[in-house]
Amino acid sequence: MTKRILSGMQPTHGLHLGNYLGALRNWVDLQHNDYEALFCVVDLHAITLPYESDMLASRTREVAAAYIAAGIDPRKSTIFAQSAVPEHSQLMWLLATMAQMGKLDRMTQFKDKAGKNAERVGLGLYAYPVLMAADILIYKATHVPVGEDQKQHLELARDLAATFNTRYKREFFPQPEPQILGEATRVMSLQDGAKKMSKSDPSEKSRINLTDDAETIAAKIKRAQTDSEPLPMNVEGLKDRAGADNLVTIYAALKRCSRADVLSEFGGQQWSGFKPALAELAVAELSPITAKMADLMANPAKIDKILAQGAEKARSIAAPVLKETMDIMGFWH
Ligand code: TRP
Repeated sequence: MTKRILSGMQPTHGLHLGNYLGALRNWVDLQHNDYEALFCVVDLHAITLPYESDMLASRTREVAAAYIAAGIDPRKSTIFAQSAVPEHSQLMWLLATMAQMGKLDRMTQFKDKAGKNAERVGLGLYAYPVLMAADILIYKATHVPVGEDQKQHLELARDLAATFNTRYKREFFPQPEPQILGEATRVMSLQDGAKKMSKSDPSEKSRINLTDDAETIAAKIKRAQTDSEPLPMNVEGLKDRAGADNLVTIYAALKRCSRADVLSEFGGQQWSGFKPALAELAVAELSPITAKMADLMANPAKIDKILAQGAEKARSIAAPVLKETMDIMGFWH
């Protein structure tokens, strides 16, 4: 069986360092293996909470630009918008009939996002993990590189694949494997090491955006939460020091080394010495990406062409899978 990777990101606001280190950079690395890879911009997921319709298309382009700027090569990998491949939504309905309410009720992301409004949020937010399962299964993807927080959703996709296979008595959908890679599977807020770095955090200072310039990055890192102790000598010394752990983790991820390596260099030093080194590293890694993204965004026709070709390629895989699924389920044709 061919190995096939599928992953995606939502076109909400801008992308940040957490998206880059926790997901995007791993996708780029995976391209060097002998995988077939598809990366979508999950615009249908982006409308599950209130959103700005007049910005949706440009944000979709912007995320596609980020994929390319970070190093996803459109000649090797398929880059497309989820909404341009209607088979995702069609398969979602079929899977929805097999998704157990009890399992959806336990989804922590739904609980977090719905908050106290659980009675009033739309069905789409509740059904979000089923659409994600469809994104994966419509390509019979075998590997799904995601951040740690998506593990529970992946579990549901695996469940739905198994339910379908059992119900229709054949090995049709492979079990997609989560790939949670790298040192920075969880990049936390710069203001609160106990919270994930997030696009929905109201504080701009909590995250480094892929579009931030060098000065902004340095200023945000300078103000990032630490504590009054110097950097510890070893990894155990990061325990119960969430802010400190976060900065060391980010450094390690950027440098592609371990936290232990970082501490053997910086252990015992003050934050005032470490932070400028971290800022310099972040700027060196991000500024070429920021520049390339700006170039691409100045030429939206080029992005649109890549997205159109990607959608065509994706549909050529998705359409036969949907047809076969419907045949197996017994639909008239
Ligand atoms: N839910 C994912 C996230 O928030 C995004 C996503 C949607 C996704 N569909 C997917 C990720 C399919 C991997 C595969 O990060």
